[in-house]
Amino acid sequence: MLEFDCRNVTTEVIGEENGLHLEEEFQKYNDTVAKIIADLNSRKDKPGQWLQWMNLGYNEETVWLVKEYAAMVQGRFDNVLVLGIGGSALGAMAVCEALLKPYWNILPPEQRNNFPRIFFMDNIDPDQINALLDILDLKKTLVNVITKSGSTAETMSQFMIIQNRLQSELGEEYRKNIVATTDKNTGILRQISNEEGYKTFVIPDDVGGRFSVFSAVGLLPFALVGIEIEDIMQGIKDIDLALKNTDIHHNIAAQNALIHYLLDTRKHKNLSVMMPYSGRLKYVSDWYVQLWAESLGKNKDNDGNPVNIGPTPLKALGATDQHSQIQLYNEGPNDKIINFIRVKEFETKLEIPKIFEFTGIGYLGGKTINELINAEADATKVALIDYQRPNVTITLPEINGYYMGQLLYMLEVQTAIAGELYNINTFNQPGVEQAKNYTYALMGRAGYEESAAVLKEKMTVG
Ligand code: PA5
Repeated sequence: MLEFDCRNVTTEVIGEENGLHLEEEFQKYNDTVAKIIADLNSRKDKPGQWLQWMNLGYNEETVWLVKEYAAMVQGRFDNVLVLGIGGSALGAMAVCEALLKPYWNILPPEQRNNFPRIFFMDNIDPDQINALLDILDLKKTLVNVITKSGSTAETMSQFMIIQNRLQSELGEEYRKNIVATTDKNTGILRQISNEEGYKTFVIPDDVGGRFSVFSAVGLLPFALVGIEIEDIMQGIKDIDLALKNTDIHHNIAAQNALIHYLLDTRKHKNLSVMMPYSGRLKYVSDWYVQLWAESLGKNKDNDGNPVNIGPTPLKALGATDQHSQIQLYNEGPNDKIINFIRVKEFETKLEIPKIFEFTGIGYLGGKTINELINAEADATKVALIDYQRPNVTITLPEINGYYMGQLLYMLEVQTAIAGELYNINTFNQPGVEQAKNYTYALMGRAGYEESAAVLKEKMTVG
């Protein structure tokens, strides 16, 4: 199981001004948190609650379907190209970066067990898109277009460019190179898929983009590149049991949600830094930033009162960012909580040879890089304590599917509990929709003419 250490947010460790009387708070909030956990679990099967993500770890049918398809296409493609943005890309990127061999795409096929390379197109920089299309042999590329709404401008414009090229290169056969992941019934991509006869996978109802990584949104790309998805699912199931525990003393997601909430509302620490000490976990921070920001940044509470709240998530990477951000975290405003992610056992070991005897570097010889990265994490933690900066540590015994499932699911549950503590709607994103709608208006989508006129006026003024 994942380990969670929150001692460094207590008054005993970081002092009265910045720390929390954690045990007292746990006791004080135990009933509130118990109600939240019980309520989330009792609402999860009800339509319209957007809590279906809590059931994804048990969705054997999707596991079976994506594996069946992946087995069917295995050997036919050199590349998988995922088109998607935000919640339709970040989770799969985080898990692939963590679980595939590092530098996967430049490994020779035999070192990838003949599974394809995988590329994520999650932006619309024309130079990058053109460059990628120059590299990829589209005939040997399986394109997985992922959009829940079926109409996101970034994803659908990429899709149109690529569909067009596939068709001109492959003729009618081009359909075999496309697999769409979208809503069961609604949206333009669903309509196109039905008309064109693409293979499709479903994003279940009541699963929002940022909570969709364990639906076909993530599971299909994982299966296509040979990631053992059963391990991931087992990890989710095991931690889900633990996170159903309504006693906060035994529920690490509830603990971290409450810690963030109290540090924000009582101690003015509304910045949440995610800092894994592992390059392979780098994109977990990107995924977390979206999850935390889109879920908790809201301007109204559940009773309709204006609130404008939301802790701001930030990403950092250990040890790299010790040489960039840590100065600010130690000595700048004391307005952050740092979430360290540690890995106990890396997959490989790397010894530093004893080749130089200079005092300044000789001590490194004979040690391992593994020792060094974990020593750096310890050192950063202690320095933060010296400066009375709250920090928590999530430890993965190792990086594998089982613990990745646990890590991401725990952070999802943590976010849902935090949303309830803030009394806001965790699962909507009107601010994102607003910007999407303005884009549609500017690009001339039918039905958005009035907004386009208003917008153009505002842009001239601005
Ligand atoms: O979490 C969300 O809802 C968003 O980030 C969406 O995932 C993102 O906007 C992409 O939307 P869609 O999947 O509809 O293309």
